[in-house]
Amino acid sequence: MTTDSQTLSDGSSMSLPGHVPSELVTDYRYGQEPGFADDPQGEFARRLLGPRVIYAENPQHDGRPGWMITRYEDVRAVFQDGETFSSKAGANFQGFIGETWDMIPLELDGERHQKYRILLNPLFSPGKVNAMEQGVRELAISLIEAFEAKGECEFLEDFARPYPISIFLKLMDLPLDMRTTFLAWEYQVLHATDMDVRRDGLKKIINYLRVAIEDRRKNLGDDLISFAIKARIDGEPISEDDIMGVVFMLYIGGLDTVVASLGFMFKYLADNPDQRRKLVENPALIPDAIDEMLRAFSTVNSSRLVTRDIEFAGVQMKAGDRVFLGTIAANRDPLEFPDPETVNFERPVNRHLTFAAGPHRCIGSHLARRELKIALEEWLKRIPDFAIKPGAKMPAHAGGVWGIENLPLYWPAK
Ligand code: HEM
Repeated sequence: MTTDSQTLSDGSSMSLPGHVPSELVTDYRYGQEPGFADDPQGEFARRLLGPRVIYAENPQHDGRPGWMITRYEDVRAVFQDGETFSSKAGANFQGFIGETWDMIPLELDGERHQKYRILLNPLFSPGKVNAMEQGVRELAISLIEAFEAKGECEFLEDFARPYPISIFLKLMDLPLDMRTTFLAWEYQVLHATDMDVRRDGLKKIINYLRVAIEDRRKNLGDDLISFAIKARIDGEPISEDDIMGVVFMLYIGGLDTVVASLGFMFKYLADNPDQRRKLVENPALIPDAIDEMLRAFSTVNSSRLVTRDIEFAGVQMKAGDRVFLGTIAANRDPLEFPDPETVNFERPVNRHLTFAAGPHRCIGSHLARRELKIALEEWLKRIPDFAIKPGAKMPAHAGGVWGIENLPLYWPAK
């Protein structure tokens, strides 16, 4: 592959594959521009309202350049074409510490991916989620009741973080008193900037899960780890590495995403009392409101690896190129969503891509929606009026999952 050199706005240079037109190259580094901290999704979407594709130096903050797809239709098309766009370009956290297994099913392609989806889909079906409803509701109520009378809380610390991790620990039948430790490790992996700190967190999680899987072999139950140990693919037991890949994927996939979505939703509802009132007066609107907030405040951009030379969205892409899907911008594409910046709980058509589309569409979407619905229902019943503490700063961060760091709320104490 031939390479050219391109000078960037900060004076540094970037080596550019020969097939990348220089007019599409940008050194746009999302997350660092003024305005991002307060309105990350809006800022990102407005910046990308231009060409259908750009070529960016460091689109995923991991030092690797790639194409960045900005439009709704194109992002959906990439998600749906797993043959041309491989999922082998994923986060690969485990690779940071030299582990060679895949996160399953996220980093698999084709038939192997399909076999794992057939195996795992039933675990997260609407019926299975119905069966979890009562436990999740009791958990939400107990978390809220722990601070309700105080008239204030740090929403992320006191509710959004402990909520999904408790559900995960229950699904895995791991001890609930590991909650704080698990959260601390997860925080190290997903939020630290120092690579040594991230590696340390990863090692601790993986070592813990490895021992838990080994112990479970001697004491099988109804939990997900036991399910993976007992499962067969093509008549064969799943390898040690693949069990690890499944359990680790659920840990990484189902926690921070829910925390971040709760953070953005409650910030929006605290800031917009009229919208909040609509949900208090008409709780039947909550499911549509959740989907609309998932659209407007989405948290995950995906990436793929091109498997063959193709023309896509008017540019030549070569096998091996990385493609970064600007899902968060696509969810605010005016060609798909009229008046995209308005949060309209009664939006007539809302085919958002927050849970992706195609073969890798989020396996946990039913559970995630239910967790969010129960959280809103139980919260609004008890705390219908709440606001952000005056003077509070809630800077948003970019990264694998976009989110806010803190959300101090208060309400009239009882
Ligand atoms: C609001 C919360 C959530 C959001 C926004 C979200 C988002 C996503 C997205 C965008 C993908 C596709 C990634 C890609 O292909 O590049 C995905 C896949 C996945 N998610 Fe979620 N997710 C959420 C909650 C959950 C939960 C609660 C679980 C677990 C119970 C979960 C488990 C998974 C798994 C296992 C995959 C991989 C599916 C596959 O590759 O076939 N997610 N999620």
